[in-house]
Amino acid sequence: MVREATEEIHEQAAAAPSGPILSLRGIWKSFGTKAVFRGLDLDIERGEILALLGSSGCGKSVLLKLIIGLMSVDRGTILWDGMHVELASSRELAAVRRRVGMVFQGAALFDSLSVADNVAYGLNVQGSQGMKPADVKERVAWALSAVGLGDTGALMPSELSGGMRKRVGVARTIALRPEVVLYDEPTTGLDPINSARIGDLIAQLRHELNVTSVVVTHDLTLASHIADRIALLHEGRVIAIGPVDVINASTDPIVREFLDGRREM
Ligand SMILES: Nc1ncnc2c1ncn2[C@@H]1O[C@H](COP(=O)(O)OP(=O)(O)OP(=O)(O)O)[C@@H](O)[C@H]1O
Ligand SMILES: [Mg+2]
Repeated sequence: MVREATEEIHEQAAAAPSGPILSLRGIWKSFGTKAVFRGLDLDIERGEILALLGSSGCGKSVLLKLIIGLMSVDRGTILWDGMHVELASSRELAAVRRRVGMVFQGAALFDSLSVADNVAYGLNVQGSQGMKPADVKERVAWALSAVGLGDTGALMPSELSGGMRKRVGVARTIALRPEVVLYDEPTTGLDPINSARIGDLIAQLRHELNVTSVVVTHDLTLASHIADRIALLHEGRVIAIGPVDVINASTDPIVREFLDGRREM
């Protein structure tokens, strides 16, 4: 289904340097007197699926916003493919931002636009890509069918269930074919079948297009099914990171509290 772009992405991957696609070093971020991050380090490897866990309010959404540049760090370094984001020109920054897509915690659809127009929105805004209307239409159809909503393009958001709206939000992001996708709780509020569908889609995008995914989730089943690694945020830092089976077997008391459900997620 997504195979048509494989060659293009492989060419990009072949040209890209090795090493992590994204490195965060010594990140500090406060709101007023509340220090959300205190020297956080995190590497995101090219093509991996990283599940990001942590209790409510620990900073998961803020971290994604720092990565995508919607918020700025107080201190620390963000490296994209080895490039310092804070030293980049606005042109370089714009190029980086086109490579990363974010699926927000709420679907944030435009209620006055049809489902298809919502999904096409970013493609039309990025008109600089020079996409022809027929190509936009084809891309929208691909993205909607990838989330299992191939026949909803003509509907208005108000006609969709909450879960369907969420999936349209995913379609809108993947329509831009980002190299890295940041998902903020993509399955919260979805039934098990649609949660599994989103999980399958994340895995499929990696398999077929080598998309790197960071998935913020409270859903340990999803994390265990699709992630290569799990990172656990706690008190402003990554306190544990590793392959799913290593984290699942951890004897660290804080990690165990999270995994065994004794600490609120
Ligand atoms: N724009 C902002 N202004 C002030 N404080 C903020 C802002 N955004 C986030 N915060 C604070 O930063 C902390 C982390 O928030 P964040 O939304 O990242 O939590 P989270 O881990 O995503 O939680 P949840 O699992 O509930 O979504 C919270 O204490 C929140 O109140
Ligand atoms: Mg959040």
